[in-house]
Amino acid sequence: MCGIVGYIGKRDVAPLLLEGLQRLEYRGYDSAGLVITGKPAAGKTSATLKMVKAKGRVRDLEARVPKRFAGTTGIAHTRWATHGAPSDENAHPHMDPEGKVAIVHNGIIDNADELRTKLVSDGVVFLSETDTEVVTHLIARSQAPTLEEKVRQAVRTIEGTYGIAVMHADFPDRIVVARNGSPVVLGIGEKEMFVASDVAALVSHTRQVVTLDDGEMATLKADDFRTYTTEGSRTSATPTTVEWEAESYDMGGHDTYMHKEISEQADAVDRVLRGRIDDRFSTVHLGGLNLDAREARGVRRVKILGCGTSYHAGLIGAQLIEELARIPADAEPASEFRYRNPVVDPDTLYVAVSQSGETYDVLAAVQELKRKGARVLGVVNVVGSAIARETDGGVYVHAGPEVCVVSTKCFTNTVVSFALLALHLGRIRDLSVADGKRIIEGLRKLPAQISEILATEDDIAKLAQEYAGANSMMFIGRVRGYPVALEASLKLKEISYIHAEAYPASELKHGPLALIEPALPTVAIVPDDELLEKNRAALEEIKARSGPILAVAHAPQEKADHTIVVPKNETELDSILMGIPLQLLAYHTALALGRDIDKPRNLAKSVTVE
Ligand code: M6R
Repeated sequence: MCGIVGYIGKRDVAPLLLEGLQRLEYRGYDSAGLVITGKPAAGKTSATLKMVKAKGRVRDLEARVPKRFAGTTGIAHTRWATHGAPSDENAHPHMDPEGKVAIVHNGIIDNADELRTKLVSDGVVFLSETDTEVVTHLIARSQAPTLEEKVRQAVRTIEGTYGIAVMHADFPDRIVVARNGSPVVLGIGEKEMFVASDVAALVSHTRQVVTLDDGEMATLKADDFRTYTTEGSRTSATPTTVEWEAESYDMGGHDTYMHKEISEQADAVDRVLRGRIDDRFSTVHLGGLNLDAREARGVRRVKILGCGTSYHAGLIGAQLIEELARIPADAEPASEFRYRNPVVDPDTLYVAVSQSGETYDVLAAVQELKRKGARVLGVVNVVGSAIARETDGGVYVHAGPEVCVVSTKCFTNTVVSFALLALHLGRIRDLSVADGKRIIEGLRKLPAQISEILATEDDIAKLAQEYAGANSMMFIGRVRGYPVALEASLKLKEISYIHAEAYPASELKHGPLALIEPALPTVAIVPDDELLEKNRAALEEIKARSGPILAVAHAPQEKADHTIVVPKNETELDSILMGIPLQLLAYHTALALGRDIDKPRNLAKSVTVE
């Protein structure tokens, strides 16, 4: 989704902004732009703002930047169209006709139409169709004496979500930023300051960051910054250090981020386990949980909320919690939960799951739960993200930065994090020492087993060639296998654009069997568990109707045309491994079809708007 980068200091700003925008390209966008300024000319207090915008990629913007384009302060943006089609005019920044104010904005202004009507009746001429432009005019028309006050007045007038960065020709020594529902991160340098919507754009320059809270604003000057609320009171802001290295955002010799991230999974799982296993008590320590043993014993239900892949990880998490801790647990899309006036129960532990920690639907669900007094934990990848900060405690999944729009390593690490949470809750309740030990042994085997699966990539790539011609594919699994089928089907459709359906294998004869025919391949998750014979019966039903079958199983399946054999772990943990070959299947299918794997059409990495 949209990205913001800004800089104020001594360096030549345009190349810095372009580099920052390139680092945000993974979020998905359709146009880009930047505005810069230097010192005011001798004898003047006001500077000149210089703007360039382009529909298309950051490289199209770069091609338009004039050779002589000097400046030391600037803000830039990659836009994902919401109000108005992708075009040069609708690209950000937006400036007032006098060229005094420039603004970049992430989010959606809900009362933009109403404000636009009023501004037009006051004689304002709009240059774009965007909601953002109303904010530009509000700031430009404000009579307040300071830029901070002008921005404050504007944000008090608008309704909706925003992360904004503002420059003003009459206040060339500063950038003013504000946040409500859309991330804004300040990067603290040596006599220079950065701002971005995502640390990815900052880490090559500084790892000292301050993440703004909703309702917070900041003024950035080259050698100083201060934060305050939209009401004007000062807030304290202690910089924290970003753990991720700048190199973690590079492609590292792979052709795509997706391939890199799939390949990193053994190390990522090793990292999420590191320092957490307690062999003495056959349990795990989860430092940030903020849930003591007595409170954990008092939990009557667990409700997991997430979107997309994180929701699928939550479905596996719920099964793990039921199996290991014997606490009733379920998962629900956060996007649905927040709209159905859910019953919020004091004995239920709510768990919000998110890679980015910024997904608006999840954040809104967390805020609604907190408002109703619920205890909410987070299972989150991005340290210090909005959901991590809003929740009462939680587990970081330590997958490292995930750049590709589609989630792979983070899915795996999230499921492993749920296994840790389930083991922790289980050992506080009725899970025996022997079972705790067995699960720990299984967890320890995972990194090597993942490497074993990844080593079969060439075989999976050959299978993908065969399936790339399909118009549609079916994914089935039972109980532990069903969320794996859901996630594998999502992966395939996201990057290959092949239509895919996921069903519980048990539901086949209740309807989807009607679809089975030679042109519809089925991918079946067939773990060697108590349901093996049931799953084999489903394969027979499909074979009897001449449906091609690819099984993911612990041993070759007679009824399948092909089987991808994965190593066996403890039954409760098998689903962690069974999804990995199907990430590779989706990847190689998309590759065979020539898709833009890291930037699938219509999708963005973090969905920070509704
Ligand atoms: O950052 P989050 O985990 O909260 O994101 C949730 C979904 O938007 C995300 O998982 C999405 O489904 C991905 N495209 C999956 O590959």
